[in-house]
Amino acid sequence: MSYNIKVTKIEKSKVDELDFNNIPLGKTFTDHMFICDYDNGKWTNPRIEPLHDIPTHPAAMALHYGQAIFEGMKATIDTEGTPMLFRPKKNAARLNFSADRMGMPHFPEDLFIEGLKQLVALDKNWIPPQEGSALYLRPFMYADEHFIGMRAATHYKFIIIASPSGPYFSKPIKLFAETKYIRAVEGGTGEAKAAGNYAAAIKPTEIAKAKGYDQVLWLDAHNFNYIQEAGTMNLFFKINREIITPSLDGAILSGITRMSVIDLLKDKCYKVTERPIAIDEIIEAYNNGTLEEAFGTGTAVSIAMIEEIRFKDITIHISDENPVGQMISDTLNGIRSGNLEDKHHWMVKIERELDVTL
Ligand code: COI
Repeated sequence: MSYNIKVTKIEKSKVDELDFNNIPLGKTFTDHMFICDYDNGKWTNPRIEPLHDIPTHPAAMALHYGQAIFEGMKATIDTEGTPMLFRPKKNAARLNFSADRMGMPHFPEDLFIEGLKQLVALDKNWIPPQEGSALYLRPFMYADEHFIGMRAATHYKFIIIASPSGPYFSKPIKLFAETKYIRAVEGGTGEAKAAGNYAAAIKPTEIAKAKGYDQVLWLDAHNFNYIQEAGTMNLFFKINREIITPSLDGAILSGITRMSVIDLLKDKCYKVTERPIAIDEIIEAYNNGTLEEAFGTGTAVSIAMIEEIRFKDITIHISDENPVGQMISDTLNGIRSGNLEDKHHWMVKIERELDVTL
């Protein structure tokens, strides 16, 4: 289906104010945003406008009942300066998976991709050129019907904003395994990218940070034994030459970086196993010297090396050397910058010029 996206351009770009060598994620936003409204059972009025505040009625249902979901994605430029998206269809599909779980309407996947392409084409000067940096894209949907009462909303907004970002972590990180609070349980909303999952994680994360850790490592809700994921990442461990990652158990987010890393590891002939992993197994591997590496994967963090995990009174020190994590990080960055062959055809180039309606 073809969509007519009305584009209103900003008069003067603010990109000249950006220091491309110092861009922490989520603090600076590009000139434009994509917006679409859900009304009378259908998505209408897709448009790109100069970035602006969105008026919010105090009874907007997302504020009260939390119908709010989002995605995280990255746009990069190749060696010729052509903007590219990383596996955008996967994000479009995951947004709709999250929408299903939260009782929200699907957003048309072709309009999701078209909106991204047009927004990124328009704001392409904001894409940081350095390998490892990117234009972070944040598609999100929330209930904006004004109503007090517990039911699915009938009005929603779908919006995409964009924020240039450098690397998320500049050094290996420390995780705090949480044994009081839980993130998710099977049948809950853990596999959806729902705003509420992050809200519930904020207090435990602040506690972990106050103790000197970077993120929480979440354990299963039944016995605080099986590893789920960390704050903004899926997790991988290398034990005795084998790479293992927790299997998706209905409470873990199916990371698009996670699935890509599994493919890249297999390309390099590593044995990768997805299965339940108990924290006891990691402690045992640490004690007997077979825990070789640990790293996290996510859109924002890309690949984050893990140097330490704290579980109760046990501190697990992981090697300073991360040859596999580093190789995967370099491979992913190389594909995203067009310096390495994209043999899985993950990158979607945005070649054409925009047809702009002023
Ligand atoms: C992402 O990695 O894209 C996320 O959504 C995590 C976010 C909290 C930065």
